[in-house]
Amino acid sequence: MNEQSEVNKKAWSYRAYEFWTNNLGLPNEVAKDMISNPKKHLRRHIEFLGDVKDKKIVNLLGSCGKKAVPLAILGADVTIVDISEENKKYAMELSKEAGVNLKYIISDFMELNIDQMCNSFDIAYLEGGILHYFLDLNEFSKKIYNLIKIGGKLVLNDFHPVRKIFKSQDIFKDDGLELTGNYFENELKVGEVAYEKFFPDNEQREFPKCLLRYWTMGEIISSFAAAGFIIEKLVEGPRFDSHKNIPGEFTLVASKFKIER
Ligand SMILES: C[S@@+](CC[C@H](N)C(=O)[O-])C[C@H]1O[C@@H](n2cnc3c(N)ncnc32)[C@H](O)[C@@H]1O
Repeated sequence: MNEQSEVNKKAWSYRAYEFWTNNLGLPNEVAKDMISNPKKHLRRHIEFLGDVKDKKIVNLLGSCGKKAVPLAILGADVTIVDISEENKKYAMELSKEAGVNLKYIISDFMELNIDQMCNSFDIAYLEGGILHYFLDLNEFSKKIYNLIKIGGKLVLNDFHPVRKIFKSQDIFKDDGLELTGNYFENELKVGEVAYEKFFPDNEQREFPKCLLRYWTMGEIISSFAAAGFIIEKLVEGPRFDSHKNIPGEFTLVASKFKIER
């Protein structure tokens, strides 16, 4: 495993299960809500995913199962790949409470042996904090391309790269924005694991840090195009705080047709 993945695995193995149970809720309660309205948990992504019934979906970096379980409730056959054992624990409890099957592979995605999985998924679905965990986007996108069937698609949602030039990178927090930084910065940065800020100040010091590489929009789109994907849509959405005039997220929808590059 490379240094970045080792560091990030350590970060995501620290108090993640505790975070999910305290902030998302107990698996039995969350499962009940998911069963009553699975689409609510998929937000606007369901529009891009389409009818998922009987579809084989790989939910890469699928974390605690908060998207995989609603997809399984809607009838999809879902496999998560994620680096964190703590996330798996929550996801498996959630799927059990929801009465659905979930396959969960613990692995650094870049080290996952996909020989037996090539061309097997209808959809690769990734959302909410993905690309900054990888140092080589070309390798990353090629690997996803190989997992998907011909005619299958990619739905990738992530934080908008424009966040690189705002002082507050936390797009959920309403604490004023200041323009700063360098959009073209290409070094690895030390950052907090996504849920550290939800713990008391005195406990935050104990949290292992992440190593993150923030990409530009040009780098992202170019990598997926180079892998062979046909780009169908790039939909940008506003920030989640009050700064609705600034992009906060994007969703890339791309297909795999019979074009091998
Ligand atoms: C921000 S979450 C994205 C999913 C979801 N939106 C969430 O908020 O939980 C990032 C996930 O990536 C996983 N992860 C980080 N680096 C990884 C890697 N190299 N291979 C596989 N999973 C990785 C972490 O364990 C974490 O579950």
